[in-house]
Amino acid sequence: MRVGVLTGGGDCPGLNAVIRAVVRKGIKDHGYEFVGFRDGWRGPLEGDTMTLDVEAVRGILPRGGTILGSSRTNLMKIEGGVERVKDNMAGLGVDALVAIGGEDTLGVARQLHERGVNVVGVPKTIDNDLNATDYTFGFDTAVNIAMEAIDRLHTTAESHHRALVVEVMGRHAGWIALHSGMAAGANVILVPERPFDMDEVVKHVESRFRTQYAPIIVVAEGAHPKEGQMELATGEKDSFGHVRLGGIGQRLADEIERRTGKEARSVVLGHVQRGGTPTAFDRVLATRLGLHAIDAVAAGDFGKMVGLQGTSIVRVDLAEATDTLKTVPAERYQEAETFFG
Ligand code: F6P
Repeated sequence: MRVGVLTGGGDCPGLNAVIRAVVRKGIKDHGYEFVGFRDGWRGPLEGDTMTLDVEAVRGILPRGGTILGSSRTNLMKIEGGVERVKDNMAGLGVDALVAIGGEDTLGVARQLHERGVNVVGVPKTIDNDLNATDYTFGFDTAVNIAMEAIDRLHTTAESHHRALVVEVMGRHAGWIALHSGMAAGANVILVPERPFDMDEVVKHVESRFRTQYAPIIVVAEGAHPKEGQMELATGEKDSFGHVRLGGIGQRLADEIERRTGKEARSVVLGHVQRGGTPTAFDRVLATRLGLHAIDAVAAGDFGKMVGLQGTSIVRVDLAEATDTLKTVPAERYQEAETFFG
């Protein structure tokens, strides 16, 4: 059997660990051959491939990014896209696909499966917002990067008696903000799931200044205030229709400075959260997901995503995984609120 592998959407630490596990187990236990498709769905769409054998995956376990490249190509928006993928797969003798991606990439995988393509999905996103899996790989790494940054910001903020606003990734879900803020002792955490009250934010900031500590506000890029839209979008959209976000951190800092009279600065962590080597947790999770994905292919169990539930790797329908996003529940946010102010 020949199996195609692709990585789609925003890159994420641990992608290479998945690719390595899929290839190593696929060759050793199942005697498969592999075809690497470049840049997400663009690869099978255009028949753009690379060699994917044991040699190609040597030494990539700790490496960030993806050796296959990635893109946000939405092949469902391309006239005749599905037929082109099927033709290219047939031409290359590829019988099945392992698609490693987030809600968009796996959404396409689901539609391809419904149109007769043999595909197994592996959940990937630093945002941790995919359903039917307790964690996605890359999330732990992103949280650790953000936590370390916030730890560093504490000392400089205190030296200068400033408020510092740290904007982290998280378009629809505030998991990175919640976990990094909790781990690093943020003064306030703001998430997209819960529109914030600016008066409350100012109250927390002022109370922190009164105790001679400098406030650190962690805000997810998709968070917005109760009163209306304060989030800044560039207006540009990607091929899945997502608006490019950015700017809520600066807007918050301006508002805090205006209302408190104290200096407030903002730091946008941006793509730093997605770069570099994965943590041990993410390497192990990514490796296990890869091992189980190729077993699902061997079992002919297509239209499935492998996910982590408790400590076990399970197979769930791609539909279940992509129907709704996994957002931060109210009770998780309440736990963090104990430390606000
Ligand atoms: O989905 C992962 C993610 O990192 C989001 O947190 C973020 O909003 C988005 O990707 C940014 O994507 P891009 O790098 O394409 O601007």
